[in-house]
Amino acid sequence: MVEVYEFWTIIVSLSVVKLCHWIYKWINPNSNGKLPPGSMGFPIIGETFEFMKPHDAFQLPTFLTKKLLRHGPIFRTSLFGAKVIISTDIGLNMEIAKTNHAPGTPKSLVRFFGENNLFVRSKESHKHVRNLTTQFLGSQGLRLRMIQDIDFLARKHMEVGAKSGGLDTKETTSKILIECLAKKVMGDMEPEAAEELTRCWTYFPRGWFRFSWNIPGTGVYRMLKARKQMMNLIKETVLKKRASGEEFGEFFKIIFGETEGGAETMSIENAIEYIFTFFVIANETTPGVLAATVKLINDNPKVKQELQREHAQIVRDKTEKKEADLTWEDYKSMTFTQMVINESLRITSTVPTMLRITEHEIQVSGYTIPVGWIFMGFPSVHFNPEKYEDPLAFNPWRWKGKDLSVILSRTYMPFGAGSRLCLGAEFAKLQMAIFIHHLCRYRWSMKTETTVLRRFILMFPRGSDVQISEDTEMDNSAGY
Ligand code: HEM
Repeated sequence: MVEVYEFWTIIVSLSVVKLCHWIYKWINPNSNGKLPPGSMGFPIIGETFEFMKPHDAFQLPTFLTKKLLRHGPIFRTSLFGAKVIISTDIGLNMEIAKTNHAPGTPKSLVRFFGENNLFVRSKESHKHVRNLTTQFLGSQGLRLRMIQDIDFLARKHMEVGAKSGGLDTKETTSKILIECLAKKVMGDMEPEAAEELTRCWTYFPRGWFRFSWNIPGTGVYRMLKARKQMMNLIKETVLKKRASGEEFGEFFKIIFGETEGGAETMSIENAIEYIFTFFVIANETTPGVLAATVKLINDNPKVKQELQREHAQIVRDKTEKKEADLTWEDYKSMTFTQMVINESLRITSTVPTMLRITEHEIQVSGYTIPVGWIFMGFPSVHFNPEKYEDPLAFNPWRWKGKDLSVILSRTYMPFGAGSRLCLGAEFAKLQMAIFIHHLCRYRWSMKTETTVLRRFILMFPRGSDVQISEDTEMDNSAGY
């Protein structure tokens, strides 16, 4: 009896020692030098809950500001089960974005994008998909392929919204985006398949970016199921089209090398994962930023007035010229709108925009950043009063006279930097401008109760509804 008791005492003691050692290692991770200051929080959970606390979307998170005060611009933490370095040092952020390639997605999130995803698999496959995407979403592709569709869809949704008295900005943008991309990617789809594809998205928008488990009944479980359904649906459509010789959308033509009689550049499985990633990223970014932009415009009557003036002028010119659709030149003439978009992207960039996994050890300011950690670079320079006067103010006029097409500089990085600089930046800006154009053709206002929060992604707990009145649409007797 005594022996059994001793045996268990030894086992328990050993386990306690091992656990203590593990906790010690958690708090003091291995490094070949001095780690940046900070705390690793609780085992496994780390500081995820503090990091994910909802905050005002137009201000840097309290988590960040508190840590900056305590530790300075570079500190360590643990989030989503991973070891993380957070930095607001612009030089370091740019350097890491340029010299490190692997995307900083914690393992708990990789499952949404697929382990085999071409964006993450190897440097070569990444380069290849970036080239393909640029053909599709670079200025040339947008001018030739996209502008008409976005214009048509934005106009259509706005008219429907006006008839029923209003629309939800974020949801409508999401619909426009999915309809537009689905058509470009797949070509015309059977209406049922298109409907099913859109329906699958309803499981995605809220809260995929969180620390949780794949258990039946949870949001993650439903999202992974929707992911599978979508992948099957895209695959079925592609195979059917191939078998019947029906035409694909331009996107598939590009990735299957059909544009210039080239060889097939990607397998169907890879193409589907690629498209899926693309849809998820697009849907998680532009709709939120656009809805937040509409809120900023609504709360700043002078900005709204200036926008109404700019778009009234475009409508008048088009009516005179008897032109029906928006052209690239019209888009380029929306100077104030682009100033508004730039300013909104500056002020809504309250998340890290440069995310990498460190591929080599980095020495900085006497600290060592080890290999294999997630690096999150915040563009907090957007809120630096030396670079932007009164940085918390939404002031589109500060962009006057600047080159509005620049998507990256040392003081402006809403779309990241380096080898993973956003591929959809121009597309997103175009979509936002066209949406604002069609919205400004009506008298509109956003519901006063609208609030914009961030919990890593932008959230609108009370929706993002705008009321639109149909009877005040600008004169369009020429059919514009
Ligand atoms: C306002 C809207 C958007 C914002 C603020 C935004 C921002 C970003 C950021 C910060 C990154 C990461 C860059 C890095 O880690 O250095 C990124 C990557 C990416 N974005 Fe966007 N994005 C937006 C819209 C879009 C859209 C509409 C698409 C596609 C249609 C898109 C496609 C991508 C892709 C494919 C990547 C990954 C690039 C790579 O890994 O090579 N984005 N975006």
